[in-house]
Amino acid sequence: MKQKLIVICGGQSSEHIVSRMSCTSVLNNLNKDKYDVTLVGIDKDGTWYQLPLDIPDLSQDSWLDRATKIDQVFDLLKQQDVAFPVLHGAYGEDGTIQGLFELANLPYVGCRVLASAVSMDKIYTKKILETVGIPQVKSLYIKKRYDGDLVVVDHQFNEIKDVETTIKEELGFPCFIKASRSGSSVGCYRVDKQADLMSKLLDAAKYDRHIVVEECVDCIELETAVLGNDDPIVSRVGQIMPHGEFYTFESKYEDAESKTCIPALVDQNIQEKIRDYALKVFKAVDGHGLSRVDFFLDKKTNQIYLNEINTLPGFTKISMYPQLMNDFGISYSELLDRVILLAFDR
Ligand SMILES: Nc1ncnc2c1ncn2[C@@H]1O[C@H](COP(=O)(O)OP(=O)(O)O)[C@@H](O)[C@H]1O
Ligand SMILES: [Mg+2]
Repeated sequence: MKQKLIVICGGQSSEHIVSRMSCTSVLNNLNKDKYDVTLVGIDKDGTWYQLPLDIPDLSQDSWLDRATKIDQVFDLLKQQDVAFPVLHGAYGEDGTIQGLFELANLPYVGCRVLASAVSMDKIYTKKILETVGIPQVKSLYIKKRYDGDLVVVDHQFNEIKDVETTIKEELGFPCFIKASRSGSSVGCYRVDKQADLMSKLLDAAKYDRHIVVEECVDCIELETAVLGNDDPIVSRVGQIMPHGEFYTFESKYEDAESKTCIPALVDQNIQEKIRDYALKVFKAVDGHGLSRVDFFLDKKTNQIYLNEINTLPGFTKISMYPQLMNDFGISYSELLDRVILLAFDR
């Protein structure tokens, strides 16, 4: 018998459009003999719609033309066997929709509530990974208080008011400013001089109250794919070759000059170390199903640093996660079957 699979795309995050691109590939590659698919699109305002399955490209503006609004979301979820949230960012990758699936007693693809919430927040990811000795770049946690003031939050959660001086003295320039719970490089800025610091912090604060400031590493960007529950497998290491100053939203999705390379063009020992770290990271956040774990390799010192863990990585056919799995011998369609099967370990 076919499994009743609900596939969800869109969502309220700044990565809404990326999700629709990912979902187009997912739908094109799902084995229709195995799954009875219900396709749901969440609009940017949070409204849920049921979509016909024959839309050739969900990233087109016409994606909602033949949609029907869903009034009873919970009832629809209760009718399914399994959910695949092909969502990125806030409300899709951060534990919130995962909590809804838990309430509906519905198995779902990917990380559970805690791993999703921790991994979405770059600051809390760092705090957990410090405990297992994963190397990370020097950073500071800046918080926008509810009264609007920016403060540095130290390791004991004391607030330091002089944000500008603390960043200058502890990290210097250039540095990277990032909204802590964002993705696809939205709310992410490289700051080369002190004069730009406060304005960029305020820009990042538009996306999130938690902001992370990091020392800038002149680096090679390396990524690896983890798949599994208790005994996950880890792919070879892939290399990102961003076109432009760093890996911005545009260079990720709109710039054909940004390239990837599998395996990475770095020493084999470094790749093995990265694969070990990736498994440790996945276990440390209590990962489930899948994650892409991203690293920096300092070009001068060869030091490896964790960058971040993505619990619902990009899933277009040319995205790094499916590519790494393909290199491992798992085709895109098989990968979909595997992540769906893993959902049932509860
Ligand atoms: N500390 C850093 N040093 C150098 N480059 C960085 C640093 N942090 C981020 N970047 C650049 O910004 C990009 C986006 O940052 P990342 O932390 O991966 O956020 P996102 O969740 O938006 O992908 C990275 O892929 C890299 O190109
Ligand atoms: Mg990233």
